[in-house]
Amino acid sequence: MKFFVDTADIDEIRELAETGLLDGVTTNPSLVAKTGRHFRDALADICAAVDGPVSAEVAATDFDGMMAEAEVLAGIADNVVIKVPLTWDGLKACRALSIQGRRVNVTLCFSANQALLAAKAGATYISPFIGRLDDIGADGIDLIAEIRTIYDNYDALTTEVLAASIRTPVSVKQVALAGADVATIPPGVLKALVKHPLTDIGLERFLADWKATGQTIV
Ligand code: E4P
Repeated sequence: MKFFVDTADIDEIRELAETGLLDGVTTNPSLVAKTGRHFRDALADICAAVDGPVSAEVAATDFDGMMAEAEVLAGIADNVVIKVPLTWDGLKACRALSIQGRRVNVTLCFSANQALLAAKAGATYISPFIGRLDDIGADGIDLIAEIRTIYDNYDALTTEVLAASIRTPVSVKQVALAGADVATIPPGVLKALVKHPLTDIGLERFLADWKATGQTIV
């Protein structure tokens, strides 16, 4: 499973990119607003900091507006993926952009039928929002599993399942078990994945025993 980081904060992105474990970035208008920066400047910096795909969301809601914005965003860097909402206009834009050879991430997916439509429209990625489903008492992981099954039923559906709206480390494990191709994860959750108290305790003991030998390796 690929790991994308879900943020527009360039410092967080640079820090995580240094691990070599980051496969891409997703942003959205709320995350861009948090940075206080102009979107085009922030996007250019993010695209330069990572080799992988960087999702940049259109703000227009009509087909023509989305296409015009997509042109500007795609011109910023080769690794920009155009993110469009799961509406009829968004699906039309997805189809038109994918015919042009652009990669498209269809966002705000909350049902398997929506995911089916996005795949038929040529989406590179579908973004089911699991946390927001959990928030209203539904089961986000079930949705990932349903989409996985549907896409696997048809060879022609090559869209990657990008599990989004992840809030906890356990959700990362769950979406991996459900067969997501990608998880986009907030920086804090991504950093927390490495943590286990037994790792810390074990390392402490090894180091104490090693020190007692008086040896050095180099
Ligand atoms: C995905 O592309 C979105 O940016 C994101 O995962 C939304 O997460 P949230 O529901 O925690 O805002």
